[in-house]
Amino acid sequence: MTAVHHDSAARLWMLSTPNSCYVLRLDDQGRLRHLHWGAPLTPDQAAALPYVLDVATNFDGELAEEYPGEGGARFGVPALRVRYADGSRTTVWDHTGHTAEDGRLTLAFRERHGPLALELHYRVHPDSDAVERRALVRHDGTDGEPVLLQQVAAARWTLPLRADYRLSHVTGAWSAENQLTRGPLARAETVLTSRRGITGHQVNPWVAVDAGDAGEEHGEVWSSALAWSGSWRITVERTVHGLVAATHTAGHEGPAVTLAPGGTWETPVSVGVYAADGFGGASRAWHSYARSHVLPRPAELRPVLYNSWEATGFDVGEQGQRELARRAAALGVELFVMDDGWFGARKDDSAGLGDWTPAPDRFPDGLAPLAAEVRRLGMRFGLWVEPEMVNPDSDLYRAHPDWVLHEQGRPRTELRNQLVLNFARPEVAAWAHDWLDRLVREHGVDHLKWDMNRVFTEAGHPGDPDADRLWHDHVRAVYALMDRLRSDHPGLRIEACSGGGGRTDLGILARTDQVWASDNTDALDRIAVQHGYGQVYPPGTMGAWVTDSPNPLTGRALPLEFRFHLAMTGALGIGGDLTAWSEDELARAAELVARYKRIRPVVQHGRLYRLADAVQYVHGPEVVLVAWRLARPHGAPVVPLRMAGLDPLARYRDLDTGELHHGAVLTARGLTTGLTRDHSSRLLHLRQES
Ligand code: GLA
Repeated sequence: MTAVHHDSAARLWMLSTPNSCYVLRLDDQGRLRHLHWGAPLTPDQAAALPYVLDVATNFDGELAEEYPGEGGARFGVPALRVRYADGSRTTVWDHTGHTAEDGRLTLAFRERHGPLALELHYRVHPDSDAVERRALVRHDGTDGEPVLLQQVAAARWTLPLRADYRLSHVTGAWSAENQLTRGPLARAETVLTSRRGITGHQVNPWVAVDAGDAGEEHGEVWSSALAWSGSWRITVERTVHGLVAATHTAGHEGPAVTLAPGGTWETPVSVGVYAADGFGGASRAWHSYARSHVLPRPAELRPVLYNSWEATGFDVGEQGQRELARRAAALGVELFVMDDGWFGARKDDSAGLGDWTPAPDRFPDGLAPLAAEVRRLGMRFGLWVEPEMVNPDSDLYRAHPDWVLHEQGRPRTELRNQLVLNFARPEVAAWAHDWLDRLVREHGVDHLKWDMNRVFTEAGHPGDPDADRLWHDHVRAVYALMDRLRSDHPGLRIEACSGGGGRTDLGILARTDQVWASDNTDALDRIAVQHGYGQVYPPGTMGAWVTDSPNPLTGRALPLEFRFHLAMTGALGIGGDLTAWSEDELARAAELVARYKRIRPVVQHGRLYRLADAVQYVHGPEVVLVAWRLARPHGAPVVPLRMAGLDPLARYRDLDTGELHHGAVLTARGLTTGLTRDHSSRLLHLRQES
């Protein structure tokens, strides 16, 4: 079956993915109605679908419209909110044509009364169950009157009718990102949003809805994610008649932009994934989509990195960094990243941001000697940068106080003693490109940890009559800058960071290689952070460091092996003060780094199965299991760990002990983990016998 099917008699379009299908139709009034998102259908079956919302009465005005505007008997969440110069808001869309080729479908519409054209874009891929969507609005009038765009959703994802619904998403905070919550979906409009100018720690731009009957490995799940790194809003609407739809918009309520004649406005991509095999199946579909269609270098393995932040804080200097680099290299680390504190007057968080030249007192000969030493030790060289930020106490701010987001005569609220540079101003983006390009070229920088430690406040752009555009333009300028640096420096890799995981989304992942998932490196706290992260984002992108014990943030002491094993479930890094580790600890750490390198392809590129107190990865014939034990009262039952994703007819050899296991036994009965002590952990590496 072709990926995009058009039935002109039924005025119907159908998008097919390997395990799902998405159907739309123009109704008898010419409105675009959503018909189906779920199990695969044939074209005949799709043509036989009734309109989904037969249960609703016209009086309630509940229509499963694919992309509703305002006006008419519509009372739900609009996808499109515009205001014409005469104050009217009603839009009536006439379908003007479509194009369908190569898995892409574009539906075109013209507004009957005003000067607007609308395109709805869809895309599917032969190897993925993801449906990509975005919208484009064009002002094609000639009368000179602009149109105000108050909301242009990337997509509205409508679910099929079910008796009940549950909503899954993540909430969080700095150092407590990605806490998964799952509960009844309110008969209301549930708004998940960031008004901060960044993706945010508080909630991440994805949702999953199920009918209350899905589990980790069974049941239907409909999930959707917005590929955007600025403010955003997902409204999950559940009506009295049971219509459920999630509307995804870049930007939050309030800011509006003006569309002048000839102008176009394009949304970022919103992606939907239907899975019939539970939350685990949905996650695996997301990971495979991200690897095949989002990440810039998906085939690469992430190097084991060392980062200096927890070891030294701002107290960086050439000698100290050389010593850490020497010890890191001895452990088998492949990439050495010097964090904050290497530039300008940056001795703490009160000064220096914006002055991106090596601090002369700490690096009297610049960074070249350290970079050379890191390379001599056989590692790549990485640096922390925070290009979008400035401390008021900096030469940059003294020279350009108008470069920051601000409103004339209003306070300039500082957070972490810093202000946000307005990348919507071309000269600011050009300045950032200039020093970043030079820094990367002069030092052959292999890796940038690109941080963004504070959110927008007083986000004004004095002098720009359409100032609200900066909410979007800032993000686009950051994307463009990353894209340009990557294309000019093909060896450069970028780690996304925003006070930890505050800028984790499919938009940033399209131009970065990994994400610093959280500033919290306590392995116990990390279990939940990583569990939530992996719901949508692939484990191979999830930076996870082993740091000191007791943990500097939580004060909790945990065994070295436990800390390693939990960090080995993502992209392993080391972030402790290696000068304080004992010889025994360093020797054990070196063994664990070597072990990680052996399992790394399975963890970073494999299929993830989440088990009780364990995660498992399957990659070709290889299987990796990391199991842990949390604190339990004496006498609590210790049950075998039932593995998933194995071939019941196959046998699996333990590559450490040589022992042979039956797939059927590991699945039906489970593995005896032998984890009898709190905070003990075990790593198992199996290979399927051919
Ligand atoms: C943020 C990052 C940390 C570290 C500091 C440096 O908090 O998340 O990992 O880089 O900034 O100031």
